[in-house]
Amino acid sequence: MNYKKLKRKLRKIAPSRDFKKIKDKYAKLYKIRLKEKEDIIPIKKAGRLTVDILNLVEEHIKPGITTDEINTLVEEFTRKNNALSAPLNYRGFPKSVCTSVNSVVCHGIPDDRALKDGDIVNVDVTPIVHGYFADASKTLFVGTPGKEAQKIVAVAKQCLRLGVLEVKPGNTIGDIGHAIQRYAEGQGCSVVREYVGHGVGFEFHEPPQVPHFGQKGQGIPLVPGMVFTVEPMINLGKHNLHVLSDNWTALTDDGSLSAQFEQTVLVTDNGFEILTPFD
Ligand code: MF3
Ligand code: CO
Ligand code: CO
Repeated sequence: MNYKKLKRKLRKIAPSRDFKKIKDKYAKLYKIRLKEKEDIIPIKKAGRLTVDILNLVEEHIKPGITTDEINTLVEEFTRKNNALSAPLNYRGFPKSVCTSVNSVVCHGIPDDRALKDGDIVNVDVTPIVHGYFADASKTLFVGTPGKEAQKIVAVAKQCLRLGVLEVKPGNTIGDIGHAIQRYAEGQGCSVVREYVGHGVGFEFHEPPQVPHFGQKGQGIPLVPGMVFTVEPMINLGKHNLHVLSDNWTALTDDGSLSAQFEQTVLVTDNGFEILTPFD
């Protein structure tokens, strides 16, 4: 083999050797399981079903539908696609999807109450496809939204966008939270502290935690192969919340509207790839 050819070959090998080293280091230091190319394929498959489920729900959202009916849609469609709903029985969660209405921040439990014109509802789904997880959510309008609903949904959507744009090797987890917090608070809204994004793929919730607030340059450096969610919960009023005696439903203390969008994101060699590509 001539020298040039050998050099080209070595260049191809070196990054993968580095990857193995970093993979071991991240496992030891942070308990983060970096994903290999062959892990990404099935996670993407779960991600595509996640998008299909969210689209199905979106088609059916209108005044009068109950959150239990959303739950049935999600559960039946998931099963039809040979998948399981991760939320069902997760730490005692009783349903297949979280439906969080108006001032519910997250983890709303589907029930027999009907959605009304002007409500907002976050629908958060996590199918398990052949053992792999993808997690995403969207806040949807029910009928015609008012001014406040439009504002909080637009801000939460933009927070997710700005957070995801920080995802690239060399940036840190803190860069994501910083970008989100800066924008949300600049818009006069607030960022929920108690719930954070998380590693995902092999399990529902893996390390690391991904706060939606923080400081530039703080926290774990992002490296290729990390898969985690970005899922900012943004309140129109103050960030404080309380959890109902069902031990799940989180509500804003001040009764203000709360909205959330969530994506599962992969760190690539030069940026990010969204594995649950909705919109
Ligand atoms: N899907 C939520 C998240 O984004 C977690 C819901 S836990 C459940 O992490 F048990 F309520 F489903
Ligand atoms: Co999540
Ligand atoms: Co989720």
